Amino acid sequence: MKLIILLSLISVLLISVVASVEDLSDPLIRQVISNSDDDDHLLNADHHFTLFKTKYGKKYATPDEHDYRFSVFKSNLRRAKRHQLLDPTAEHGVTKFSDLTPSEFKKSFLGLKKNPLKFPSDANKAPILPTNDLPEDFDWRDHGAVTPVKNQGSCGSCWSFSTTGALEGSHFLRTGELVSLSEQQLVDCDHECDPAEKNSCDAGCNGGLMNNAFEYILKAGGVQKESDYPYTGKDGTCHFDKSKIAASVANFSVISTDEDQIAANLVKHGPLAIGINAAWMQTYIGKVSCPYVCSKKRLDHGVLLVGYGSAGYAPSRLKEKPYWIIKNSWGPDWGEDGYYKICSGHNLCGMDTMVSAVVSTNT
Ligand SMILES: *[C@@H]1O[C@H](CO)[C@@H](O)[C@H](O)[C@H]1NC(C)=O
Repeated sequence: MKLIILLSLISVLLISVVASVEDLSDPLIRQVISNSDDDDHLLNADHHFTLFKTKYGKKYATPDEHDYRFSVFKSNLRRAKRHQLLDPTAEHGVTKFSDLTPSEFKKSFLGLKKNPLKFPSDANKAPILPTNDLPEDFDWRDHGAVTPVKNQGSCGSCWSFSTTGALEGSHFLRTGELVSLSEQQLVDCDHECDPAEKNSCDAGCNGGLMNNAFEYILKAGGVQKESDYPYTGKDGTCHFDKSKIAASVANFSVISTDEDQIAANLVKHGPLAIGINAAWMQTYIGKVSCPYVCSKKRLDHGVLLVGYGSAGYAPSRLKEKPYWIIKNSWGPDWGEDGYYKICSGHNLCGMDTMVSAVVSTNT
């Protein structure tokens, strides 16, 4: 009995320590923490920065800019080290985003708007599906339903990639053809929202929501091919050509937060559009991310759920389907060839809370 009390006391302490350590990631707090030269020396920051600049072809306009980026790089090295401690099953380190502050990163490479109070009027509530016959491992990439990893660039348009990814998958399931669809059409033309909540409107590089985008596609009649309406990574004027529609939405639905239901809908409908809190992704290199703390509320990134698995990672309590496989839109030179793995079973980083399936028409 005493042991149990002691253990729970220790875990409470640990959680608060972990939480306060993670607060150091807050850009404001982080900037005022004095840099420890010893630490930088241990981390071999000079050497890593040289490698980083070569690998990603980084050039800085002025010596001042170079010095500033080096200081940001150093704090990201320390942050990656903290992330490694707090997320031991993943690998964290230098990524192509290592010279950006967390707020710069958030502004330019995410783009999910806050969950609105109301869903679009045509959104269905997904019916509850049977879950007893689900495969143990499942990956839509093995079935040809996923296009190559794309790159949103420096534009908060994640939501448009999550949307096209889900529709590409459903279109493939219904027609047998994998067609890459246009995010730029959504960036330029889709300003859908609940009129009562103007700040939830889809707004190109300034963010949007996948459910709004499905509603837009439903109303507009469809989406063009990527090759007919290519991605520029900038807000532009709409030049949607109805005669060139490549895929359309029959309907879309919002899935319950139950992970078995999410898996069942994934297997039935194809890749799902989901929202996630991207707090651990700037430093992510690979393996299964299972951080001790991650807010379930602050969803800020739209991504595509394509599968789940267990290979290479099986603590006994999570034997069934230990991780989700997520397609990101930061190019193939981020994460595991552009993908992120996050452990399943407990709504980690809020990933169960904004999940949608789309059904394409046959055309
Ligand atoms: C969604 O569309 C498909 C294909 O047209 C149809 O079979 C299904 O019943 C629709 N679902 C809803 C909820 O309307």
